[in-house]
This record gives sequence, structure tokens and C-alpha cells, in this order.
Amino acid sequence: MCGIIGYVGRQNAAPVLLDGLARMEYRGYDSAGVAVRSETRGLQVKKSKGRLQVLSDMIHGGADLEGCLGIGHTRWATHGEPNDINAHPHVSENGAIALVHNGIIENYLEIKEHLQKLGVVFTSDTDSEVVAQLLEYHYNECHSMLEAVGRCLRRIEGSYALGIICADYPNALIAARKDSPLILGFGEDGNYLASDVTAIIKHTRDVAYMDDGEIAVLTADSIDVFDDELVPVEKEHHQVDWDVSAAEKGGYPHFMFKEIMEQPEAIRKTVSPRLRDGRVVLDEFQMTAEETRDISRIFIIACGSSYHVGMVSKYNWERLLRRPVEVCLASEFRYSDPLVDDHTLVIVISQSGETLDTMAAMREAKRRGGKTLAIVNVVGSSIAREADHVLYTWAGPEIAVATTKAYSTQLVLMDLVGLYLGDLLGTVAPEEYRAIVEAVERLPEQMQGWLAHVEDVQYFASRYFNHASMFFIGRNLDYAMGLEGSLKLKEISYIHSEAYASGELKHGTISLIEPGTLVVALGTYGPLFDKFISNVVEVKARGAEVMALTTEDFREKMGKTADAVVTVPNTHPILQPSLGVVPLQLFAYYVALQRGCDIDKPRNLAKSVTVE
Ligand code: F6R
Repeated sequence: MCGIIGYVGRQNAAPVLLDGLARMEYRGYDSAGVAVRSETRGLQVKKSKGRLQVLSDMIHGGADLEGCLGIGHTRWATHGEPNDINAHPHVSENGAIALVHNGIIENYLEIKEHLQKLGVVFTSDTDSEVVAQLLEYHYNECHSMLEAVGRCLRRIEGSYALGIICADYPNALIAARKDSPLILGFGEDGNYLASDVTAIIKHTRDVAYMDDGEIAVLTADSIDVFDDELVPVEKEHHQVDWDVSAAEKGGYPHFMFKEIMEQPEAIRKTVSPRLRDGRVVLDEFQMTAEETRDISRIFIIACGSSYHVGMVSKYNWERLLRRPVEVCLASEFRYSDPLVDDHTLVIVISQSGETLDTMAAMREAKRRGGKTLAIVNVVGSSIAREADHVLYTWAGPEIAVATTKAYSTQLVLMDLVGLYLGDLLGTVAPEEYRAIVEAVERLPEQMQGWLAHVEDVQYFASRYFNHASMFFIGRNLDYAMGLEGSLKLKEISYIHSEAYASGELKHGTISLIEPGTLVVALGTYGPLFDKFISNVVEVKARGAEVMALTTEDFREKMGKTADAVVTVPNTHPILQPSLGVVPLQLFAYYVALQRGCDIDKPRNLAKSVTVE
């Protein structure tokens, strides 16, 4: 989604802004722009539809713009089509104020009409321009930029991260935030503003996270933060614990491939601090046996792939906890009048920690008395800060839009939490507990071993990449894993695909199977393997081409029915999806590669979905 960068310091701002925007390209965008200010040339605004390169070429890598203070933006259109005019920054009518905005101003029409009646002429179709014009209106009233921002924020409804420059304040950048992330960076050669830490990590790791309602004033030497009543606020500094190389390709052809390959290490980093002497230790989330018994309902809430983690975890947690677990899409949960009370445990899963629906669902759950635990990858993100408890996945920065290593670390962390709670409840036998812990400890090595030989998957992708439609079928954990395999394929290769619980096929879907249809048969779940084979036989009988995924134990049996077989090592059944998903990620990757797709930045998608 949209990205914001701001800089004020001693360097020429435009190249810094372009570099920061380039580092946020992975988030998905359709246009880009910058505004830079200097004493001699005043405000210079350049923006353009399309790739950042178009903008960069237009201003010769930034050399054409003069000034050490500026803001930049990559836009992902919501209000108004992607074009040059709707791109940010937006400038107020008298040309004195320029701003960039992430989020949505919900009451923009009402404000726009009001300003139009006063004679203000708008140039774009965006909700963001309304903020620029409203700011000018309030600035003309009070002649204080800070006060004008405060008045403006009291009038607008919705979500925003704002970066503002004003002609009357030639040395300052102003920032404001509500429900959309904004990070302040304290640098040696100046100070920074960004919606995503990757944009500024090259310059500084010393950051502070803005909270809702806060306004910041940045100059080359200082950052002052105020609350919504304009009372000064002390901000805690955080050190980002990864460096710029973690967000670079490092010789890999795509971020997605790099991140697939990083999974063993990411899992190791996520689990090893939480396993001590064969026990699961969750320092950041401790419950007593009594508190655990007091839980009568468990919800898992997320979107997209994180929701698919929830689908796997439902099977695993019900097995480990013997408690009903409900998995909900955040966008549905938040408006469903959910049955949450103070005996409800609500698990919220999010890589970015900024997904608006997930955040809103979590707030709704909290409001109703639920106890919230967030499983989040981005440190200091909004969901992480608002949840009652947070457990981080230590996957490191994930740049490819299609998630891989974040999914894998979420999955295994959920297994650990399930094991921890099951142990407290006394619903996991000691030998089962031991077996799972041992399997978790072995998992990174097993995955690493498998990743050394990906040729089979590469070969099958080259064989099947031309299919117009693909079906993923499986039972139980394989069904849940298939949802993710199917989503990976859809999002990066644009092939139509569906995932089905294979027992459901004959209730309708099997009518879609015709000679040559590709069915990806997921048969890694041992207890239901024989039942599953009957479903594979059913689709074969209707002419399907079957590419199967199974474990070493079942390879031979599967080989008798399927046309192609990919095998993963055996592990404890609850961890089998952690190994099984890797070939599915790679299959999607290689299919997309064969089809010449933009793997790291698939069309229409954004990395972190900060609008409803
Ligand atoms: C798919 C993908 C998305 C995200 C979803 C939730 O590859 O990445 O489906 O899983 O947008 O995002 P987070 O986990 O950041 O809340």
C-alpha cells in the first residue's frame, strides 16, 4: 500500500526520498511523487503515474530538485484513478502547503463540499487533497502550522499518516498519525519520517513509533512530538535490530525466492528462544493453569495467508487443547457482533501488524472483554503495541508481497502456543509433548535438507505452468495447507485456482474436472491417507492430471495413483504442513517465473493492507 518518506537535514533531499521510495516499492503502488523545498526555489513538486523509475528519470535521480527538506510518496489508489494528478504530494490552493497521506479520510466529501462553497478549487479526485485544502483554511485562520494541523485533525474522520511541508516553515516537516503507521528516524545528518522502517534503515536504526493522535515536528536537529491537545510527549527510542542487507536481494533473483530459502533460519530464530530443556517457555505470554481453564472460547482472527495459518492451527489446537477454536476472517469478525466476553482468548495473526481489518477486529474483541494475544512479525507495529500480549515471529523483514517465511514462522509459533496451553490444561500427554518439541527442534534442519533439492518442483512447474486452472485438494491439515498453496499460485501466477476439502468434491466441484485438469493432491496427513487416495482416484477417473504431494512413508502408495509425486520428509503430524507448504510456495514461484510474472510485486496487490 501507499508509502511515505520525509527528510529534513543537511543532504539534498530528493535522492534520499527516491531511495526511500525505492525500498518501499515492494508494498505495491501505482504512482509516485516528491515535494522538496529550498529558500531559492521554494516548493518543487514532481509526480507521475507508473513506476518510480519514471519519476526518477523525470528529475534525473533527484538532481533537478534543490532543497534539504522534502516528502515523498508511493500511492496505491483508493479514491480516484491512478494518474499524475491524483498522485501525491497534494498542494493547497495557494501553493503554500504540500502533503502526502496514507489511509482514508471518511468524511472527505462533506469537507470538500464545505470548502467548495467557500470558493476552494480542487484539482484531484482524492480524499487526501481535502486535507491539504483544509489545512490551508485553518492556517489562514490561526497562522500557526501546529495549531492548524490540530484543528484539521479534529475535523477529519478516518485513518491517516501525514507528512506535511509548509512555505512559512522552511526548516520543518510536520507529521501526524491515526490508524496508519508512521515512524520517526533520528539520523546523524538529519531526521526522517517513514511509514515503513525499510525506507530509512540505510540512514538510521534509532527510531520512535508515533502513536494515534500524535503530531511531530521534525527539523534537521530535533524531533518534537505532541499529543492531540498539542501537549509535548516524550517518545521512547527503539533500535531496529536488523540492517539494510536483510531487506536486499543478496544475489537471489527475487525476494520471494530468497525468503523461501530463509525459512529454516527464520523458524530457528523463532523457536529456539522459546524452547528450554525440552519445554516451551513463552516469556511474553504467561498464563496459569487456572487462567487457561477459565477460557471458554478461542478465536483466531486474521486475513489472507495469516488466516490460513489460523486454519491449520484450528486443527492442531483442537487436538492439543480439546477446546473449540473458531477461525475468523478479520473483515467479517469485526462486523459480526462477535460472541466475545472476558472468558474469551483472541489470537490475532499478522505479519505486518498493520492490517486494518485485523487491527479493527482486535479492538472490537478487546472492547468486549476478550484477552488478546498477537502473533506479529514487524516489531513496534500497531497491532503489536495494542494487543494485551505479543509474541513476535523472528522472520526478519519480508519484502516479497506474497508471504512465505512469515507464514512459516507464524505456523510453528502457533504450534508452540498450542502446546503451551495444552500442557497447562493437561490435555497433551507427556510423550506427545516430547515428540512435538523434538519435531520442532528438527524442523529447520529437515526443511534445509529438502530445500537443497528443489529440482523436482522446478521440473513439474515447467510441465504444468500452462494450465488455465488448478485445484488443490486434501483432507484435514492438508486441506488447510492447500488453501495457502492455492493462494500463493493465484496471487503471483494469476492462474485460477481453488482449494477444496477433498471429501466435498462430489458435492459439486467435481463437475469442473475434465480431461487434463490439473489437480494438486495433498496427501501428507497420515491418519486419513487411505480415505484421501479414494478422492484422488475419483478425479483420475474423470481425466484429471494429478500432481501429488506426500511424505516419504506414503510415496510408494501415492506413486501408484498420481502422475507426478513430490515428497517431503516425515515429521510429527501437527508439523507436517510446515514442511508441506514449502513445495507449494516453490511450485507457485516457478510457475510464475515460467509465465514471466512480476513475482515480487504482483498486480493489484499491496504488502500491507492498511485500508478496509
Ligand atoms: C498473501 C499475503 C496476504 C497477507 C494478508 C494479511 O501472500 O501476504 O494474504 O497474508 O494481507 O497480512 P498481514 O499478515 O500483514 O496481516
